[in-house]
Amino acid sequence: MSHKTSDLKTAADVPLMQVKGLIREFKAGEQTIRVLHDIDLTINQGEMVAIIGQSGSGKSTLMNILGCLDQATAGEYKIYGQSVNRLDADELAKLRREHFGFIFQRYHLLGDISARDNVSVPAVYAGMDGQARSERAEKLLADLGLADKVNNRPNQLSGGQQQRVSIARALMNGGDIILADEPTGALDSKSGEDVMQILHDLNAQGHTIIMVTHDPNLAAQAERVIELKDGYVIADYKNDNYQQVQARPESILDNHRKSAFSSFIDRLFEAFKMSLLAMRAHKMRTLLTMLGIIIGIASVVSVVGLGKGSQAQILTNISSLGTNTITVSDGYPYGDPRRQYNDDNLTPQDAQAVADQPYVISVSPQLDSNMNVRYRNVQEAASVSGVGEDYLSVSGESLIQGQGFDEQSILRRTQDIIIDDNAKNTFFPDIANPIGEVLLIGSVPGRVIGVLAPNNSGFSRSVDSPTLYMPYTTMMSRIKGSAYIESFVALIDDNISSSAAESAISQLMISRHGTDDFRIRNSDSIRQTIESTTTAMTLLISSIAIISLVVGGIGVMNIMLVSVTERTNEIGVRMAVGARQSDIMQQFLIEAVLVCILGGLLGIGLAFAIGELINRVGGDSFKVIYSPTSIIAAFVCSTLIGVVFGFLPARNAAKLDPVEALSRD
Ligand SMILES: Nc1ncnc2c1ncn2[C@@H]1O[C@H](COP(=O)(O)OP(=O)(O)OP(=O)(O)O)[C@@H](O)[C@H]1O
Ligand SMILES: [Mg+2]
Repeated sequence: MSHKTSDLKTAADVPLMQVKGLIREFKAGEQTIRVLHDIDLTINQGEMVAIIGQSGSGKSTLMNILGCLDQATAGEYKIYGQSVNRLDADELAKLRREHFGFIFQRYHLLGDISARDNVSVPAVYAGMDGQARSERAEKLLADLGLADKVNNRPNQLSGGQQQRVSIARALMNGGDIILADEPTGALDSKSGEDVMQILHDLNAQGHTIIMVTHDPNLAAQAERVIELKDGYVIADYKNDNYQQVQARPESILDNHRKSAFSSFIDRLFEAFKMSLLAMRAHKMRTLLTMLGIIIGIASVVSVVGLGKGSQAQILTNISSLGTNTITVSDGYPYGDPRRQYNDDNLTPQDAQAVADQPYVISVSPQLDSNMNVRYRNVQEAASVSGVGEDYLSVSGESLIQGQGFDEQSILRRTQDIIIDDNAKNTFFPDIANPIGEVLLIGSVPGRVIGVLAPNNSGFSRSVDSPTLYMPYTTMMSRIKGSAYIESFVALIDDNISSSAAESAISQLMISRHGTDDFRIRNSDSIRQTIESTTTAMTLLISSIAIISLVVGGIGVMNIMLVSVTERTNEIGVRMAVGARQSDIMQQFLIEAVLVCILGGLLGIGLAFAIGELINRVGGDSFKVIYSPTSIIAAFVCSTLIGVVFGFLPARNAAKLDPVEALSRD
């Protein structure tokens, strides 16, 4: 801003307003129409000027330029000696806010708020302290005979009362210069006289009054009459009988001005209040607008919760696989051209060499077969595994009856077997303690020494067929007649990363075999696969949800554009009383963000409700796990949608031309 308020006021010796060679043209299609031609005017402080002329002669156009609502196409306009020609929108708004008070033929009050709040609006933008603001608004209304109407909304007031409210609004920030465009045009003669009387009183207090009128009788009451015809000033004369006043209106703003920051907060609050009012006025529409956001946010939050829940469930299941194991199996990897059907190349010595590594806790060699197993008259196909003495610790399984294998079982190739609960149910349905019973595995007898605890993971053992375990040495010599094992599982020290251990074991095996004729995988990779699969699923569904958020955002934008169109007149009024472009922008952005945040909160609530339902139905086995991150992300996301999709409509609103906005209903 090139000047301050006080600078303007002290310049008493220069004329209040000076217009030189002012031209205003409008573009109408291809043509430009010149509405004001070479206007030269000087208006002094304290004058009461009536502008008269036929309809279409340019009175309102001239008024709008004088009131800095509009700018001239050419020519010069100075207020207090300062040219306004090159001021930007916000500097013009400041001039309007601090020096002008507008009174319109059709009042232009804001319909949703009380008389007091209507009167207060200019002071909000000027940064007047809240307390002082409502006191002053009430005093102004009381002075105009509306003491008992401060809480009425405009539609609860008569025309004359509404016009008095708009006069109070014009005076709110001081209103050194009152611009009244047909102030009595919509009023009956009694109310019209009242308004004229108020204008006379204000003039007597030192306010400069510029009034547009059709009515010669009203013009005759003014000190000075300027007559326009087809955009030219054709007469400019003084009424002799008029008493010129020398008083100057009191200065209002400087006494009650707040700090820039708290004034900003005030305006934010005003914008917030107006957004809430607007949303309340269109509840159904607001709800429908929010629906897209609600669905989007609810699906993001619940999908992430579902993903986390199923991931957690799978991970608890596979944790019974043994925490950190590496399995080496014989033969080249699948798909390797060197791979053959029967790749017997893994020996117990390989397993022993791995077991000797410092980072390996224990190793269990393994070879498997399907056999017919018989106990008395029960005969059933069963899977039979030869395992090492450390099988239980490596596999994470436990016994409920009997004992496991020891070093001697392996060395002496004992014909001891351990059975799982499936085998126990199959072969010994009526025997509580099967320890010591003898099964025939093919033709080889085996004595039961232990029973495994039921395993609910569904990962490590076949669910369908009964499973028997015997020392791998016994399996090699008695059952398979083979010098090779098929695989071994190494339990790795928890302090060692499984990938490091995997590559170390891989190196060791390659150095022993001279080639990579084995397959290796670690339990962590299973975990990672599961994690990455569920993460991929979550990402996929989330991206669908995000699409619905974007669609919701477009819905918000659409409604905001409608809202701006609907409230164009309100925007014009706010601009006329001195709202900055940023104030208007803020108001609509806040509305958009509010719609989205509210939608987001409802969406989060909906997600919780869905999750609660799933938890009820799923019982103990499955829980939706809400991640705070996804909820915060959803919240931030909905705010961002508000900002992004509210921006365009809000900017459209802020860029509106005040005169054009005012003329729309
Ligand atoms: N935005 C615009 N675009 C094109 N022409 C315009 C625009 N605004 C005003 N005009 C034209 O300028 C001329 C003067 O308009 P203005 O509103 O100043 O008249 P007025 O003297 O106030 O008339 P009234 O007494 O009916 O209010 C009119 O011919 C009008 O059509
Ligand atoms: Mg007019």
